[in-house]
Amino acid sequence: MKEQKTVLVTGGCGYIGSHTIIDLLEKGYGVVSLDNLSNSSEKALERVKKITGREVKNYKLDLRDFSALRQMFAEWPHVHGIIHFAALKSVGESVQKPLLYYENNIGGLVNLLRCVREFGVKNFVFSSSCSVYGNAKKLPVTEDAPLQEAESPYARTKQMGEDICRDFIRAWPQKHRCVLLRYFNPAGAHPSGLTGEAPGKEAENLVPVLTEAALGLREEVVVFGDDYPTRDGSCIRDYIHIMDLAEAHSLALAFADRQKSAGTCEVFNLGSGKGTTVLEAIAAFERSTGVDLPWRIGPRRPGDVIAVYANYDKAARLLGWKPRYGIDDIMRTAWAWSQMAAQSDTLEA
Ligand code: NAD
Ligand code: WQD
Repeated sequence: MKEQKTVLVTGGCGYIGSHTIIDLLEKGYGVVSLDNLSNSSEKALERVKKITGREVKNYKLDLRDFSALRQMFAEWPHVHGIIHFAALKSVGESVQKPLLYYENNIGGLVNLLRCVREFGVKNFVFSSSCSVYGNAKKLPVTEDAPLQEAESPYARTKQMGEDICRDFIRAWPQKHRCVLLRYFNPAGAHPSGLTGEAPGKEAENLVPVLTEAALGLREEVVVFGDDYPTRDGSCIRDYIHIMDLAEAHSLALAFADRQKSAGTCEVFNLGSGKGTTVLEAIAAFERSTGVDLPWRIGPRRPGDVIAVYANYDKAARLLGWKPRYGIDDIMRTAWAWSQMAAQSDTLEA
């Protein structure tokens, strides 16, 4: 029998991490998770078990605690690869607490890479973000677009994180392979409706805001500006379904593993390739769920880029990745999951 390859997923209890674990398990990998639960709960892994029938152990530890991290690696010295999701991700909070973001996102990455080095882990996948592009000059944006000044400390942690990974590979090109994934706007939920983005703090991102309004948990959706130079005046984003994103991670890991030449550190855009305005997103939600949303136009949100969407040709070519879900699927699955989550909240209360 072939030996099972084990993948360490940091941030495995979070939104993208837990969905990626489902894809990894379905592809036959073993998975171990590391998450300090600062923005999640181990219930996410219970939901993963419901879907896959597989138990995943979580090490509740903080990446900033180097000795605890090293101890965990000592228990798992031969992992096949690491997918590194664990980070703080609120753009607004990062402006208020920049040092926390640098300490957590940069300090955590550096500690993890020290272990990657010491334990000789070959494959490393890093969660980056389209926020590294800022207001891109040419759309759809390709990976070689020049990066603009970061709009927030959060976005800067992603630009710096990418650079740290590149320097790491330059220093030790023989032993390690790295893939940097720039996500556009991840949204939606597992098609079973059994898991999705855990409702926690009040939502900031558009799709959870829509589901909260549909559930009556907020009075209305405020559209942040309708006077932008776009087709209907609202901002354009590239919403990518969470299971498409999840699959890209398994493909990225396989890509890293098959690289024969030294020094591989490759960056990929992960988006649907389609731009959707805020008003079109609201229309898609109403069309695909049959629920009318209360909404109004409000002022612009400071720091918002006008429009950004991906060219994902490189991921298609080198990873063999292609998004399968569209904006209506995103809205339908997000709605199915949020109803389920609201119901279980009521049952638990
Ligand atoms: P999430 O908050 O749901 O998941 C991140 C997880 O990491 C959480 O469970 C949190 O508890 C954990 N974590 C944070 N700091 C930690 C630390 N120091 N030690 C151990 N665990 C820690 O976020 P997500 O949406 O799943 O995002 C995953 C990654 O993708 C992040 O790096 C994020 O910056 C990046 N990203 C997210 C989006 C998005 O819109 N969701 C877009 C682009 C990039
Ligand atoms: C989407 C669109 C808003 C809420 C953020 C991070 C980015 C990346 C993805 C991590 C925008 C509009 C939103 C609302 C609205 N994350 N909107 N009313 O800002 O594109 O990207 O998440 O890496 O770094 O910045 O996502 O979901 O907040 O907004 O009109 O109540 O919806 O103006 O045009 P954003 P978002």
